[in-house]
Amino acid sequence: MTVAILELAAAFLVVVVIYHVVSVYTSPLSRIPSAGFGAAFSRLAWAFPHEYNGTITIDLPKLHEKLGNTASHDSQYDCRNNISSKSPGPLIRIAPNEVSFYSRETYETVHKVGSKFRKDPRVYGEFVQGGHPALFSITDPVEHAKRRRIMAQLFSRSKVPQLEKLIVAHVERFVSKIAEGEETVDVGVAARALEVDIMSDFSFGTPIQAVDAWASGTQLAMVEKNDKKATWMPVLTTFPLLCDLWDQLENFMFRITGWRTQYTKGLADFQEWCQETWQVALSTTSPNGFPNLIETLCNAGLPSETALSEARENLGPGTDTTSATLAHILWALAHNPSYQNALYEDMVAVGFSTNMTVLENIPRLQACVKEGIRWAGAAAAMLPRIVPPAGIVLHGRFIPEGTVLTSSPIWYLHDRTAYPNPKVFDPYRWLTTDAHDISDNRLRDRFYIPFSRGANVCLGAHFSYLELYVSVAQMVRNFYLEPREPAHSTRDQALGQDWIPVPLPGRKEWVAAVTVGKLEVIHRRR
Ligand code: HEM
Repeated sequence: MTVAILELAAAFLVVVVIYHVVSVYTSPLSRIPSAGFGAAFSRLAWAFPHEYNGTITIDLPKLHEKLGNTASHDSQYDCRNNISSKSPGPLIRIAPNEVSFYSRETYETVHKVGSKFRKDPRVYGEFVQGGHPALFSITDPVEHAKRRRIMAQLFSRSKVPQLEKLIVAHVERFVSKIAEGEETVDVGVAARALEVDIMSDFSFGTPIQAVDAWASGTQLAMVEKNDKKATWMPVLTTFPLLCDLWDQLENFMFRITGWRTQYTKGLADFQEWCQETWQVALSTTSPNGFPNLIETLCNAGLPSETALSEARENLGPGTDTTSATLAHILWALAHNPSYQNALYEDMVAVGFSTNMTVLENIPRLQACVKEGIRWAGAAAAMLPRIVPPAGIVLHGRFIPEGTVLTSSPIWYLHDRTAYPNPKVFDPYRWLTTDAHDISDNRLRDRFYIPFSRGANVCLGAHFSYLELYVSVAQMVRNFYLEPREPAHSTRDQALGQDWIPVPLPGRKEWVAAVTVGKLEVIHRRR
């Protein structure tokens, strides 16, 4: 009897395997080159290990390039700019039902306003906090559009300048803590603390006091572990049930023994801080002179739990991106004393204004902020979308309904054709040679999509620009920066005379890019 059951089970397994192999080979996706061994058979064979190691968005563009041809990928723009280079192969199958694309035209098709390609719930669902999806994780386009209209009240270009006072206050405190502290600063950790304070104050009406903690020599565990969670996303999205089970087990053990991992403790402290501060935000009016995010969303009729989700979400992707970008800019500027001095003179000329319109019209400042956003490519994640009913033909291949199509906006920021020597920081990509103006370059501008495109384009883009303009301007106003250990750079890669190009620091890429080493600068008071 037992033998018969075993035989039946074995036969069933064989049938399942044969069915799987046949469907892999007969699928329309079988004509698309595969990323590597086993990729077409299981996500676990290629996509997952690369995601887990934080290298998928680093390795895939190289594979796309390897499979490329010498035709230009966007011929009308390339011809006009007289550039001809090997363009990446546009499609690669990275899992049985998942295709990576590298094509600016396809990016537009998939992400444009009104696109029928929805966010993939497998990935975005894992970002839902406490059962109340924040804007980022809403996959239904109608729901998303409704929420986005409400949120736009705070994030539009016309509203963001109202945040000047709040941002300046935090940046000034940050500057004074740097001035009082040690001569060498790891700007990666320092900028992270600054952004958390700005964003928590903006979202909850109370800063988390990360700058004070950093100045006294500690990084807040609740911030650090929340960042750690972002690096665990591949595990959470691939093994959701197992992760749930582990959570329950750990909660159970904690109730009995009082023990839990540092990671879980950090996350629990963060939840606790959010809950407590949310209650305060609901019962008092913000002391900042304008309503915080929670107040605004509740006034607009959103349930207070949803407002909490939005506020909490801001402290992850809303801050690690801007802080990583700021750290990269400061580190690159530290290698360039004459550019710092020229920027300082530009600031003198506008009376050290902190007004957004004034700052964004200083070409040297605009150029180094835009170049920093491009170079740091902080929002590294691939953005998976589901192919709508009836499928689509892309690059001569039919992609059936339900296939996951995915690409990372940062690949286009590091495109060799649009940005020669893409891995070096050089603000002269954006400047006329005399640095008095922003130069024209349509290809460069077309590939500049750090905030993605279309209906899901980053809501916080203007917010982030204001933070970066004010922070860079105030740092240059107060300090001369030098790198603690200068990066090796080659002067002949420079586009401008007074600029030493700086190579991109080593990194891993999960939801956000994370540098492998420290970004240490030495500061001296001006
Ligand atoms: C340099 C800084 C930043 C970069 C590079 C960046 C990049 C991005 C990208 C690429 C997306 C699209 C994600 C997707 O389609 O899944 C996005 C979405 C989003 N970002 Fe940012 N972001 C930055 C800063 C911020 C800040 C400061 C905030 C908050 C104040 C913010 C809030 C959001 C929100 C709420 C969404 C979801 C938008 C939607 O689905 O409608 N981001 N961001």
